[in-house]
Amino acid sequence: MKNILITGGLGYIGSSLMKQLDFSNVNEIVIVDLDLFQTEEKLKNLFKKKNAESKVIVKKINFVNTTALDKIFKKHKINIVIHLGGLVGDPACAFNIQLTKKINTIATNELIELSVKHGVVKFIYASTCSVYGINEKLCSENTEPKPISEYARSKLEGEIKLHSVKDKLDEIIILRFSTLYGVSERIRFDLVANLFYAKAKWEKSISIFGGWQWRPFISVKDAGLVLSNLLNINIVGINTYNVGLDKGNSTLENLAQLIKSKFKDCEIIDTGAKDDARNYKVNFDKFYDKFGGALKFDLKNGIDDLCTDLDQFENNWKASKYSNLQTTKNNFKILISDDN
Ligand SMILES: NC(=O)c1ccc[n+]([C@@H]2O[C@H](COP(=O)([O-])OP(=O)(O)OC[C@H]3O[C@@H](n4cnc5c(N)ncnc54)[C@H](O)[C@@H]3O)[C@@H](O)[C@H]2O)c1
Repeated sequence: MKNILITGGLGYIGSSLMKQLDFSNVNEIVIVDLDLFQTEEKLKNLFKKKNAESKVIVKKINFVNTTALDKIFKKHKINIVIHLGGLVGDPACAFNIQLTKKINTIATNELIELSVKHGVVKFIYASTCSVYGINEKLCSENTEPKPISEYARSKLEGEIKLHSVKDKLDEIIILRFSTLYGVSERIRFDLVANLFYAKAKWEKSISIFGGWQWRPFISVKDAGLVLSNLLNINIVGINTYNVGLDKGNSTLENLAQLIKSKFKDCEIIDTGAKDDARNYKVNFDKFYDKFGGALKFDLKNGIDDLCTDLDQFENNWKASKYSNLQTTKNNFKILISDDN
């Protein structure tokens, strides 16, 4: 039976996973998450509906606390780890580099060591296509990563650590996710598509900086589904997948046009600023051959879906809890501490 530890299970992707997870093959899930974005209550209602309350334990602790983690591994006989937690996004990770190293690199390394120590069989790691940085070529899993931000570097370091223990864990699955969009139980408005939508709908203008930058996009609903499906498939060895679909590759200008087309009175303003130089187009053949059939959204119908779901946030989309940078700043003391 599956005893699963999920770090970041209350986050944007984590809550999408929890919504779609089939609990029938699961003995127990321990979510380790500081609940920085106040998602726990929403998920509790979800577990109630799914009759899964008794299977889910939420530990609101900092996963830098290895002593507490060690006890969790032992007590709950953890055999699967899904590592989603951490500081996410370039701005949040640039805020305090020491904090980013502590959480994304050192604590990730220790979580991996604990997984080895406790005989975990499957380790799923959420990485990012941002590791490709500025890359003119179509990036496959074999393309050499060129991270240009602290965030992407920290995610790559997690991958490198996993390669160093590849003979000690049966299954290691590294998922380089495309940039996400859409709604889960925890929403983010610091992601470009969600932000463009909010700006278009409620401020009637979308700002782009050139707009020529290529990015791959995937719906957060599909990201949760992929993780859920992975729990029921065995993939022995270490495997890295770019997670997304060819039709999800888009320039930011194209994304802005797609969203603008939903609103009569919206304009696109090119500010000419160069604050984010990431530019990469990604090849998803390896992922798509194996899992592509399950995906429900390409960029076009994904944006339609996003438009339906985001309307409810009209009055609070600028709240600090929808921004990872603001939330990291607000919770700095809790995040930097080893004691909680
Ligand atoms: N959202 C995207 O576009 C995207 C794209 C590619 C990869 N990813 C990766 O997917 C994973 C999940 O991303 P997300 O968008 O769901 O992020 P998120 O910020 O919504 O979720 C992160 C969760 O981790 C928790 N957390 C953070 N630091 C913690 C700590 N020290 N101890 C305990 N809990 C802590 C937070 O409370 C939060 O619930 C990340 O690893 C990220 O790098 C996300």
